[in-house]
This record gives sequence, structure tokens and C-alpha cells, in this order.
Amino acid sequence: MPTTPADGPSTPPAPAAPSLIATLPGRAYTDPELFRREQELIFERLWFCAVRGADLARPGAFRTVRVGRESVLITRNRAGALRAFLNICRHRGAQLCTEESGAVRRNLQCPYHAWTYDLDGRLVAAPNLQQMPDLDRTGRGLVAVPVREWLGYAWVCLADEPPSFEDTVIGAAVERLGDVAAIDRYRTETLALGRRIRYDVRANWKLLVENFMECYHCATIHPELTDVLPEFAEGFAAQYYVGHGAEFAAEARGFTVDGSAGFGRLPGIDDGQDRRYYAVTVRPQVFVNLVPDHVILHRMFPLAADRTVVECDWLYLPEVVASGADTGKSVELFHRVNTQDFDACERTQPAMDSRAYRDGGVLVPSEHHIGAFHAWVAACVREGAPGA
Ligand code: FES
Ligand SMILES: [Fe+2]
Repeated sequence: MPTTPADGPSTPPAPAAPSLIATLPGRAYTDPELFRREQELIFERLWFCAVRGADLARPGAFRTVRVGRESVLITRNRAGALRAFLNICRHRGAQLCTEESGAVRRNLQCPYHAWTYDLDGRLVAAPNLQQMPDLDRTGRGLVAVPVREWLGYAWVCLADEPPSFEDTVIGAAVERLGDVAAIDRYRTETLALGRRIRYDVRANWKLLVENFMECYHCATIHPELTDVLPEFAEGFAAQYYVGHGAEFAAEARGFTVDGSAGFGRLPGIDDGQDRRYYAVTVRPQVFVNLVPDHVILHRMFPLAADRTVVECDWLYLPEVVASGADTGKSVELFHRVNTQDFDACERTQPAMDSRAYRDGGVLVPSEHHIGAFHAWVAACVREGAPGA
């Protein structure tokens, strides 16, 4: 990946030879067996951004999230610490919480035979428990899942031996931005949720990642975005260059659908980050978008080879959200981008089954970095995600 100074790419890289390189074949986006391998060898091995910590405001609040083929239950214990468990009762395997979200007062009780677990997963009660003196309450507790908090989100990992969070998650931001301070300065964990939109996209998760990584399509489908970020119309995404953020148009007053003013600069960012847009892909399922006055974070939940749910959060300073300020024009810009992108992915998905795409397509020079993503996916389904 070419590197340019942080003040921007003035000239596109020289054309590589060959100019066209192959994509994955069509079946990589449709084959249920391959999708199952991706679930097992990618999503169940790497750190997975599951829920926003603030969505679990109090002890006993919970969310259930599909991670690979598993349902994971995330909650807060009485001390307020995040805890994650496989959402499976240790008695005879009933799903413990069937709701996507909710709250319990003290304990989690299985709706089948009423085995009851505390918020640290320990078995604390069961009908006729005194008749089972050999029942190990810790050993028969819920199966714990490692959880880490970063950017204000709970990340979980289903691997027996989780890979280094610093290398695989924070490392992705360092690789893209050049150093960890560049993302830390946005203090995303202190921001408040201004808006969340959930998109149910009828496309394979890899099409969404590829789309996010390139900007060859920006001039065609993102008129509002290229008005604010004119360099995107040249086809080179911010992700093409290490440390580079796409500069706002001179006439744009903010990162909004009509270029009108946003909400003032986040206090921590430096002058070089002002009036710029940065995008980070944290494989396998997170996109982070940094602009001077807010952060947009996408979490993908791949549900089938041809279906991916995306939750997109718009995060602002708490005082902006508390003031009731109208974030409409701010949210609308990336909501349109999302809709335009996901429509393109849905238009592409059916073609993956066509004989025209049996051997795949091609990547043009401004998309060559997607080839590294394809190589990574291929290596993962062959031998498991590296670092896991
Ligand atoms: S399966 Fe949960 S209590 Fe029996
Ligand atoms: Fe796009």
C-alpha cells in the first residue's frame, strides 16, 4: 500500500503491472459451506465488536448477539463490569435469553427448568438443588467468553486462545492511521449515541468490506459525499494511503449532506485532523469513520452467505446529544452513503451465482489493496485466522 505524507496524496500511484488482478470467484460469495468455514475460522476466532457499552447501562442489562454460529449474551455484573457468556443453559442446553435485549434484576434464569445464574455466570439456584450435592456451581456455570472494551464497545472473542487484541484490533487502526494516538484523540468512548440505523443487507459480508475499502465507485454513486470530499471523485479511497485523511472541500463547512456546518471540533483532535475524513477497517466486521465533529461506527453481523445486518452508530459529544441539536443533516450524509453502498452490494450479490462471474472479476489499480483482503480471507478459510 503506498504511503504519502499526512497532508495528502497529490498524485495517484504509478500504475502497477499488471493493471488488473483477479478477484475471488463468484462462489466465494454464495457457497453456504464456505460461509460456514468463515464463521468458524474467522468470526469465531477473531475479536468481534458486539455491543456498545452504553447500551448496557446498568447491572443486569443484557444484549444477545450472533457471533459466527453462536449466540453470545453480554451483560454487566453487580460491580458494573462487562461479562459475556455463551447464551446456553448448562443443564440441558436451552437458550437462556431469547430476546435481543432486556434487563434482569439480579440473576439470569433459564426459562426451561429454572436453573439460575448470577451476573458472573455462577450457578446460584436450581429446583431441588439440595438433592444434588455433587453439582459444581462454578463448573456448571455459564461458559464465559473473553470481553474487551475499546472505543466504548464490547468486543468478544470465541477462540480458545484469543489473538492479541492490541495486534489484531488496535493494530488495524495503527496500520491505517500510522499511530494509535490518531484514533485515541477522538475519545470515541466518551461520545454519546446520536443516532443508530440498522440495515438488513441482502449481500455477502465480503462485498460490504470490499465496497468500504475502495472509492472507485464514489464518483458514480456518492454525489453528496464527493461534494464534501472532492478527492474521492478521483477514485482513491482514504484507505489507500497510510495516515491520510480525505480533505473537505473548501466550501464545505461541515461533514453534512449539504456541506452546512456541523457541531464544532471534538476537543482532543489535532489541527492536522481537522477538516478531514479518515476510515479504518477492523477485520472482520467493523468500519470506523472519523470526522472532526463525530464518529460513525459500523458493526456487521453476517447472518448467511447472502445476508448481512449492519448496525451503524453516529456518535457526538454528549452535550450535543443532550442539547437536542438537530443532527439530521449530519446523519443524512452517511445514511445516504450507506444506502448507496448497500444498494450496490445488493445489486452485485445475485451476479455472484452467474456463469459470467464463475471465475470472478478484476480489480483495477485503485482497488488493488482489496487483493490483500482476498488473500487474507483465503488464508483464513484454509488454515484459520492468523493470530488466532
Ligand atoms: S435447560 Fe435450562 S434449566 Fe433446564
Ligand atoms: Fe461507497
